[in-house]
Amino acid sequence: MNLPQRFPHSGLPSSVTVYEVGARDGLQNEKTTVPTEVKAEFIERLADAGATRIEATSFVHPKWVPQLADAEVLFRLLEARPGVHYPVLVPNPRGLDRALACGVREIAVFASATETFARRNLNTTVAGALADIESVVRQALELGLWVRGYVSMCFGDPWEGPVPPDAAADVVRRLADFGCDQISLGDTIGTGTPGHVRTLLDVLAARGIGPERLAVHFHDTYGQALVNTLAALQAGITTVDASAGGLGGCPYAESATGNLATEDLVWMLDGLGIDTGIDLPALVETSRWMADHLGRPAPSRAVQALTKD
Ligand code: HMG
Ligand code: MG
Repeated sequence: MNLPQRFPHSGLPSSVTVYEVGARDGLQNEKTTVPTEVKAEFIERLADAGATRIEATSFVHPKWVPQLADAEVLFRLLEARPGVHYPVLVPNPRGLDRALACGVREIAVFASATETFARRNLNTTVAGALADIESVVRQALELGLWVRGYVSMCFGDPWEGPVPPDAAADVVRRLADFGCDQISLGDTIGTGTPGHVRTLLDVLAARGIGPERLAVHFHDTYGQALVNTLAALQAGITTVDASAGGLGGCPYAESATGNLATEDLVWMLDGLGIDTGIDLPALVETSRWMADHLGRPAPSRAVQALTKD
């Protein structure tokens, strides 16, 4: 299999944590519901390939996201492995109760920078979502859980259009004040460009939220996810969200396509000599295997190219 040549570049981190979202952001958007055992094997293969933070599922309302209605069964099937974390998405207090009942130790809450998406995704307002999130985060931190906060629509919104960096930063600031360990900046519909990414990160830094507390979550709708990632790395970000095979989207956001593909990301990071701990051929094999189950080729460019080798 072809592998990238290494040409390290100054001003970049020596290692990056890939936060793998294929099993959640990817599968929540598939038309076909994948059997629970296949999801469990997918997650196991991702861990075998070296992924250490694998968002496993979502304790949202099963009527809203039927693809992940098996959250309890799936989470209990996951094998505990040293150094491997399985955070789950939690929308509200009821979601936290369900997650705790399964022994979850890492959660991700999600807010929106825009009112329309808060209504469509969480059936509430930005303020209403933040009130729910504050109580979930407080309870989770008291119990010693690790908590990530997502902010969706940080760059653009399909209904409201451009989102000013200050508006996104206001919501990020609230999640930081609640005590979230990490906050992931969601470009849910993929309209961001590298200067925009840099501007948002600069605005956040000026408001006391540095890159060590942030992650980036790019969807690749306009082909900008990888170049936006490079801009984020240059600004000091060391956690990058990606989805094996480039699966993904958001059922409640028109025009959201797949996430940045993990293989495309790892190809670039390997080429830059940045350590991820992920074995690219093993990851490609996993995405090919999943593509067979989904009955369609993986959207990832690297998977497609390496499949022809
Ligand atoms: P709602 O209908 O307003 O809920 O939905 P409610 O509070 O009015 O309760 C209605 C019923 O649902 C009640 O049951 C509750 O108990 C039950 P009843 O009394 O009628 O029998 N209920 C629940 N059941 C199971 N699990 C729960 C739960 N909560 C309430 N957690 C809700 C509100 C938040 C539940 C709903 O809007 C929802 O599930 N939304 C999730 C949508 C979603 O999953 N979107 C995709 C994930 S976000 C994303 O992909 C973006 C991200 O990738 C970053 C980026 O790209 O930007 C993270
Ligand atoms: Mg997403």
